[in-house]
Amino acid sequence: MKIVALVGSLRKESFNLQLANYMKERYKDSFSIEIADIKSLPYFDQDEELNPPEVVKGFKESIANADGILIVTPEYNWSVPGVLKNALDWTSRVEKVFIGKPVMVVGATPGAMGTIRAQLHLRDILSSPGIQAKLLPPGNNEVLINFAAQKFDAETGQLIDEATIKFLDEKVNNFIQFIEEVKGSSI
Ligand code: FNR
Repeated sequence: MKIVALVGSLRKESFNLQLANYMKERYKDSFSIEIADIKSLPYFDQDEELNPPEVVKGFKESIANADGILIVTPEYNWSVPGVLKNALDWTSRVEKVFIGKPVMVVGATPGAMGTIRAQLHLRDILSSPGIQAKLLPPGNNEVLINFAAQKFDAETGQLIDEATIKFLDEKVNNFIQFIEEVKGSSI
């Protein structure tokens, strides 16, 4: 199973990047995770959407070929970081590669609120006509990692909070089942 991860933070020591890398290693027997290079995407420009730069074509192809998408993002100013929104905007035009794609959203923050406002906005964005992703139903699947500085090892970048790891295992399992269900229903 092939998963493409979109990480909404570009900084080297990002908790969300650490989380994406942790998930890549921990769940490697269930799926591969390729972290997309969304930093290299230019700003979305509608004048270029019919013949976008090669880097955009490659990015859209990787989304199209993935079995599922993992979005790992912080919250910026109560919403989604611009770099992530920009990547999503490219996917929403001409070849709309997100339509019907299973998506799981997770987020980590040193703060108390666990990125909830960003995730709520993301649900709207992912439901828009150009995107129409199939979001893992959030009811029982919200992964909101708060107080991240206490849950990641500062030296190794590993997630070390046992309760969070157990919770994440359950939700990833739900995502794998969800991908299978979506696949089954589209045959
Ligand atoms: C933040 N941060 C933040 N945190 C939060 O809980 N709600 C918010 O609205 C914001 N807004 C915000 C805006 C900007 C521009 C920055 C740089 C930061 C704090 C944020 O959660 C924290 O910096 C995280 O560590 C960012 O995620 P990474 O880079 O560790 O993955």
